[in-house]
Parts: sequence; C-alpha cells; structure tokens
Amino acid sequence: MFSTLLFDKQDSIARITLNRPDVLNSYNLQMRDDMYQVLRAIKDDDEVRVVILRGAGDTAFCAGADLTEFLTAPSPVIARQVRWERDVWGLFLSLPQPIIAALHGYVLGSGVEMALCCDLRIAAEDATFGLPETRLGIIPVAGATQTLPRAIGLSPALEMLLTGRRLDAREAYDIGLVNQVVSRGNLMSTTEDMARQIARYDPLAVQYAKRAVTRGLDLPVADGLKLELRLAHLAIAAGKPRLKKQPHRPTETEGGK
Ligand code: COA
Repeated sequence: MFSTLLFDKQDSIARITLNRPDVLNSYNLQMRDDMYQVLRAIKDDDEVRVVILRGAGDTAFCAGADLTEFLTAPSPVIARQVRWERDVWGLFLSLPQPIIAALHGYVLGSGVEMALCCDLRIAAEDATFGLPETRLGIIPVAGATQTLPRAIGLSPALEMLLTGRRLDAREAYDIGLVNQVVSRGNLMSTTEDMARQIARYDPLAVQYAKRAVTRGLDLPVADGLKLELRLAHLAIAAGKPRLKKQPHRPTETEGGK
C-alpha cells in the first residue's frame, strides 16, 4: 500500500496511478519514495510485460513538483545524497519493460518529465503540456533537459524549456511529444489496448527492441549497430525453441505458382 500511488498488476500489465488528485497529483517526496519502490518491484518482476502510468482524478495527470515542498531540501549535500540513493528517474529509464503514459488534463513540469520517462505517450484531447521551471527561476531536475530533446529534437525542446509556453494535445502530437491523441472517453481503452497488444508479444523481443533503441541513442552508430546485432543474436537464441515449434509454411517463392 502506498499513500501517493495506486498499483495493480493483472494479465502481465502493471498499472501505476498517481493518486493525489486533490493537489492535481503534484509530485512530492513521498511520491518519489513510493514510485521508487514500485519501479524497483516492477523491474525485477518477470510477470510484468508492460507498464501503464496514469493520473487519478479529472483535472490532471500531474501538475508538477509539489510547490509546498519546493526547494525545501535541507542542504544541497543531503539532497545529492538522497538523489544518489533514490535515483527515481534513472530507475524509470532503466526499466526493461515498455511503459505507456496515459495523459489527461494538466501535464506540467515533472508531469512532462515523468511522461518522458515512458516509452509511449497517449494524450486525451484535453491534455495541456508545459515546463514552467525556467519561469520559476529554476531548471527541470527530473531529466527533461536530456529526455525532451531526445524525444522531440533540439529546437522544439529548447522552445518548451526556455519559454515555458503551454502546448495543447494537438500541438504536442505535431511535435512528436505524444504518439496519439484520443478523446477523453477513449484514453484508458486506447492505452489498455496498446498495452495488451504489446503484452501478447515475446517479452524478450520487446525488451531487446526497447533496449536497442534507448541505449543505442547514446552510442555512435557503429556501436549502436553492434548492440543491435548482439541483442538480435540473443533474441534468436532465446526464441529458437519456440520458432522450431512453428509449422513450416512455404513462402510465396517456395510454394511456386
Ligand atoms: N503543487 C502543490 N499543489 C498544487 C500544485 C503543485 N504543483 N498544483 C496545483 N496544486 C493544488 C492547488 O494548490 C489547489 O489546492 P487547494 O484546493 O488546496 O487550494 C489544487 O491543487 C487545485 O489547483 P488550482 O490551482 O485550484 O486549480 P486550477 O484549475 O485553478 O489551476 C493549474 C490549475 C495547474 C494551472 C495551477 O494549479 C498551477 O499553476 N499549478 C502549479 C503548476 C506548476 O507551476 N507546477 C510546478 C512545476 S515545477
């Protein structure tokens, strides 16, 4: 049981719900601790093939860091120590399973950053995105300076970061911040359908594909290609017994006309 999150696992799909709807699911220290525990458990759980992240309530996925706790860390040294011990964002990004974010209402500050730690993002039509940190005299610390340009490219990322301008769902789609925009009523069914589809596939193939892309992004192309080859060999080796069981179906050329 967590005080800031709901967690459930069914049919190989884990669902994490940010659950502080009265304060628009703003991200506080307790949520950081709860999130760390949930992600740790998911990372080691072979039964989980796909993860869904969503926000409770009607108004927001997450309206950013909890402003009542803002900059209240006792000292930079302790803050760094805590961060080192509880690197939620590093843990998020190291999860082997794909994570799908279901986004509605306000998606601000660390809300955007949490969404960027996910692999796929589905937005409801009412979603609003923004990074207000620079306007507040700080910069994002949950990865956005690194994850945002990787997701949408340099110029749009800098515009979001430097101006703090809010984007509606359609604009977020146009710049590639989200994969799909759906009606509010269809947000969870679309997300669940996508999760179920991925959960039906060979989990190792899915995880290797994710790893090849996410790790490869930080490598020179030649090293990325080596990584891809290594993972492809691993996937083939792991899949051999399963592939052998498939009845041989002649290809068009083999079958002759
Ligand atoms: N931290 C703590 N509490 C927050 C919060 C945050 N980031 N965002 C909203 N809340 C709380 C409000 O204080 C309010 O609590 P109350 O009912 O006890 O007064 C409740 O959530 C509802 O928010 P409210 O401002 O009344 O809703 P709104 O629809 O008028 O406005 C926002 C919504 C998102 C525009 C507005 O809440 C806002 O600007 N929030 C801060 C966003 C931000 O700067 N985040 C930090 C990023 S670093």
